[in-house]
Amino acid sequence: MPTAELRLPIETERLRLRDFRLEDAAAVHIYGSDPEVTRYMPWGPNTPEETAAFIARVLEQQATWPRLDLGLAIEHKALGVVVGSIALHLRDIPNRTLEMGYCLRRDLWGQGVVTEAGRALLRVGFEDLGLHRITATCDVRNVGSYRVMEKLGLRREGHMIRDRQVRGAWRDTYLYAILAEAWAENPA
Ligand SMILES: CC(C)(COP(=O)(O)OP(=O)(O)OC[C@H]1O[C@@H](n2cnc3c(N)ncnc32)[C@H](O)[C@@H]1OP(=O)(O)O)[C@@H](O)C(=O)NCCC(=O)NCCS
Repeated sequence: MPTAELRLPIETERLRLRDFRLEDAAAVHIYGSDPEVTRYMPWGPNTPEETAAFIARVLEQQATWPRLDLGLAIEHKALGVVVGSIALHLRDIPNRTLEMGYCLRRDLWGQGVVTEAGRALLRVGFEDLGLHRITATCDVRNVGSYRVMEKLGLRREGHMIRDRQVRGAWRDTYLYAILAEAWAENPA
């Protein structure tokens, strides 16, 4: 199974991508309860109980095998705390395709943090796990999110019209993707 090859933590210059721990709850609640952070997300803003339930769910996922949903914590090494998350969903194993999603504490936006985390995951995904394709989606109004995808070399493949309901309203969604060949030619 592909995730057998995934070795955690994944270290980058400023970040450590690792499994969540019970004691991360307070740090997770900082971004999970922020309405600006969750504006385009299907969840949140979270109550403390919802944050605790999230932590319980990811701890449960850590114990499953094979691990098809990996919610990884983004730990900021200099700050010494979890500042966001990057999730990997291996929903299509025969086609070696992974979907990723991410979010970050608001006071750290615009410093390249999620691009740095995403770059490390693309490297691991293509070079260590042998994936064929990595995808991501976002609300068409979420400029910061699709800028991250574009900086990582993902291409916009689709504009889905009113495909999903978020907080009772239909929204449009962009689909982005990158293939292993494109990554090998031009790693971000
Ligand atoms: C989207 C998000 C993950 C980006 O993380 P980040 O670490 O700030 O991203 P980076 O700094 O690596 O890159 C963001 C890029 O988008 C640009 N950007 C951000 N908001 C923008 C906006 N409103 N308009 C135009 N550009 C914008 C930044 O300038 C930067 O591009 P640049 O490096 O060319 O200047 C972060 O803002 C976030 O957590 N948002 C809330 C959660 C969320 O929406 N997650 C994605 C769900 S699909």
